[in-house]
Amino acid sequence: MAGQQQSEKMWGGRFAEATAASVEAYSASIQYDARLYHHDIMGSKAHARMLARQGLITAEEGEAIVQGLTEIEAEIERGAFVFKPELEDIHMNIEKALTDRIGPAGAKLHTARSRNDQVNLDFRLYLRDEADALDALLCEVQKAFARAARRYLGTVMPGYTHLQRAQPVLLSHHLLAYVEMFQRDRERLAGCRQRINILPLGAAAMAGTGLPIDRRFVADELGFAAITANSMDTTGDRDFALEMLFCLNLIQIHLSRLSEELVLWSSKEFDFVRIGDRYCTGSSIMPQKKNPDIPELMRGKTGRVTGALMALLMTVKGLPLTYNRDLQEDKEQVFDALDTVKASLSITAELLENTVFNVERLQAATIGGFMTATDLADYLVKRNLPFRQAHGVVGRIVALCQQRDCELIDLSLDELRQFSDLIEADIFTVLSVDGSINSRLSDGGTAQVRVEEALARVEQQLGMA
Ligand code: ARG
Repeated sequence: MAGQQQSEKMWGGRFAEATAASVEAYSASIQYDARLYHHDIMGSKAHARMLARQGLITAEEGEAIVQGLTEIEAEIERGAFVFKPELEDIHMNIEKALTDRIGPAGAKLHTARSRNDQVNLDFRLYLRDEADALDALLCEVQKAFARAARRYLGTVMPGYTHLQRAQPVLLSHHLLAYVEMFQRDRERLAGCRQRINILPLGAAAMAGTGLPIDRRFVADELGFAAITANSMDTTGDRDFALEMLFCLNLIQIHLSRLSEELVLWSSKEFDFVRIGDRYCTGSSIMPQKKNPDIPELMRGKTGRVTGALMALLMTVKGLPLTYNRDLQEDKEQVFDALDTVKASLSITAELLENTVFNVERLQAATIGGFMTATDLADYLVKRNLPFRQAHGVVGRIVALCQQRDCELIDLSLDELRQFSDLIEADIFTVLSVDGSINSRLSDGGTAQVRVEEALARVEQQLGMA
């Protein structure tokens, strides 16, 4: 039926017909972007103050808007606000509620603004807070690792390459490796936060506005460090969201590598750790089982976090400048990745506090596998044998041990000297696990003194000392 019902949409002026119900359902984002309400209101208040200051609305109108928005926020927080899918998104839900509440002044809020710059603003404000929340969670995880490193200081274990025993190390050295990863994650997030922390508002639909706005005032109100330089770039840009997703990805991938180690280490084959009962689950059929489901899930969830980054990269890939509705697809991916990574981080800190390392097993695993072979080679190098030759000598000694099914340290001095007369009685300290570990004095090495220094530095940085 032609002209049956004029559109009641906020943008409905030029429409003769109401939107199809299927279109409303397909295009609405309110189910997920409602979580931007606080930041949407915060941005609108700053915008209204600027409009009043510039004489684009009266001071009374400005105050009525700010007051109305405060009431709406309280209503949302009480759970009394009704979100309407026919109003599409959080921006229009709030603006409509404001106009219903305060009348014509509400209809002036959108002066010199478009949802294209508004949504970009809301997302940046939201992600700025999330970056801070993630930083705090990462810091807690680092502290949990530092505490474990302190608890187990002195415990030895095999270090691995190719998942083959390589060289003996301190467990604390291994644990502090994760502190470094999470430190880089924090630094990466801080860099991302800097690029998030730039005001997009004022780009309007995409070309800027003819009204005399003051973007710097809004930036100051909202704590932004700068304003974006190009209105077209601004409305089409989601680099900051992609970058946040990448940061989330590396965090989750670090957690996934940790998870893999916990899964391996809690197997009978390794038996390096016991995860507390409260953090494990049983099998519905095999009564003897205790499964490391939490690290397994954490490893598994990496798939969805990675998927979110890939999804948004593909969404942005072919978009012509500037804003396109495709960009609405950004939020669900980022929200899901954020929820997943935050939950994973907070459970990691708990998990670590509830994990006991099997000190005897770790120690026993340093015997076997010729893990001090490099120490023997280094010993020969210190006696001026070129490293490549030393490598060859030690290789032949290892072959003999394999034939005899014994360890390097089990050979007699005479037997060792048949391979090189540079070898003397002090070799036996060098071939011991402690001797090997404590010889690794290079900066960043596993010698106990180096690890103690590293741990003290970390505790200091994390404010634990
Ligand atoms: N909900 C929209 C989004 O997330 C807001 C911007 C809509 N802009 C527009 N011109 N339709 O992208």
